[in-house]
Amino acid sequence: MTDWARRAAEAVAGLTSTGSKGPDAMFGGPDGPTHCVRAEGVLVTTADGRTLLDWTMGLGAVALGYAQPDVVAAVERAAREGAVGPLPPVLEVEVAERLASAYPGAQTVRFLKTGAEAVQAAVRIARVATARERVLYCGYHGWLDGAYGGAGVPPAVARLWKSVPFDDVAALETAAGAGEPPAAIVLEPVVERAPARAWLEAARELATDRGAVLIFDEIKTAFRLGRGGAAERWGVRPDLATLGKALANGLPLAAVVGRADLMARLRDTWVSSTLATEFVSLAAARAVLDVWDRTDVAGHIARVGGTMLQRLSGEGRAAGCEVGGIAEMWFLRFADAGVERRFLLACVGHGVLMKRGPYNFPSLAHGEAEVTRTLSAVRAALEEAGG
Ligand SMILES: Cc1ncc(COP(=O)(O)O)c(C=O)c1O
Repeated sequence: MTDWARRAAEAVAGLTSTGSKGPDAMFGGPDGPTHCVRAEGVLVTTADGRTLLDWTMGLGAVALGYAQPDVVAAVERAAREGAVGPLPPVLEVEVAERLASAYPGAQTVRFLKTGAEAVQAAVRIARVATARERVLYCGYHGWLDGAYGGAGVPPAVARLWKSVPFDDVAALETAAGAGEPPAAIVLEPVVERAPARAWLEAARELATDRGAVLIFDEIKTAFRLGRGGAAERWGVRPDLATLGKALANGLPLAAVVGRADLMARLRDTWVSSTLATEFVSLAAARAVLDVWDRTDVAGHIARVGGTMLQRLSGEGRAAGCEVGGIAEMWFLRFADAGVERRFLLACVGHGVLMKRGPYNFPSLAHGEAEVTRTLSAVRAALEEAGG
């Protein structure tokens, strides 16, 4: 255990405030690097002095590479300009206007800080608009009361959230037809694999037929599969969508976007946060939008990720490990947890940081050299991990 891990165990409840960065989530147990001191491009410097080629990219929050120079410059400028002010910044308007042409149907926008908040806001809007309470959902939508159960969520609230299986039209129809009609259908459009377009289309039709609000949770997929995420890729338009993570390339910004008539119902409720209008993250988002305007970010990520996925599949098949996901978000999964942990730690030994299970995220900063280096690390690590 490093000194930082010992100090974290004393000072930080549960070791870290981001559960998916803890030792179990990352490596399936202890002995991996626990803390970092900086990240730049694709490289992360750990607190114990290693430099690793990273594929986790801040859990998908970084699609342009860590410390992307334009984003850094924008952030520095915004901090010097005060970071936050007494009135909303003009940046809020500008980024909202630009999101309207980036995400299909993003007629108006409301900014928040986290993905979980954005989902809660979208569901709140749906409940106001429909005067209903039930929510059908698929995927992960953050820690707030509702989709992600666990101790402390009142059963009366948990009961209102019904999980539906991914990419299953019949199950969605059954769930939508049973009990009280839903206020919202909230779908994470990619869960470990691509959906059939028919599933997204069925959700669209069901929502329209039953008078429910269709929400795509694109926290991971927007500004990764394309600016417009799954809605753009599969050509199915939700009523509302949630954006976050790569939207500001790692700065804390999320948004709920969508139909102006629905978004206008925010006037009937209260969704607001003191720092939703700070300048720094909005400036980062504007810099991200500029990069997307002049660079084929999605094409690059799809190419690098596709090559990685294809080559990993060859290695993985031979070693009996599952290689899953899509080019833009892929993962390795081992049947034996011990082998998995040894493999991930061996990768670290060879200078490559990957996360256990879903997902690893290629970025604009990854290229052929990183793919080649990673594959030789993976080959060696598979040997060392045994089977
Ligand atoms: C699809 C999806 N929705 C919502 C969230 C929650 O976002 P946050 O952790 O910023 O609250 C996540 C986080 O991983 C996510 O992947």
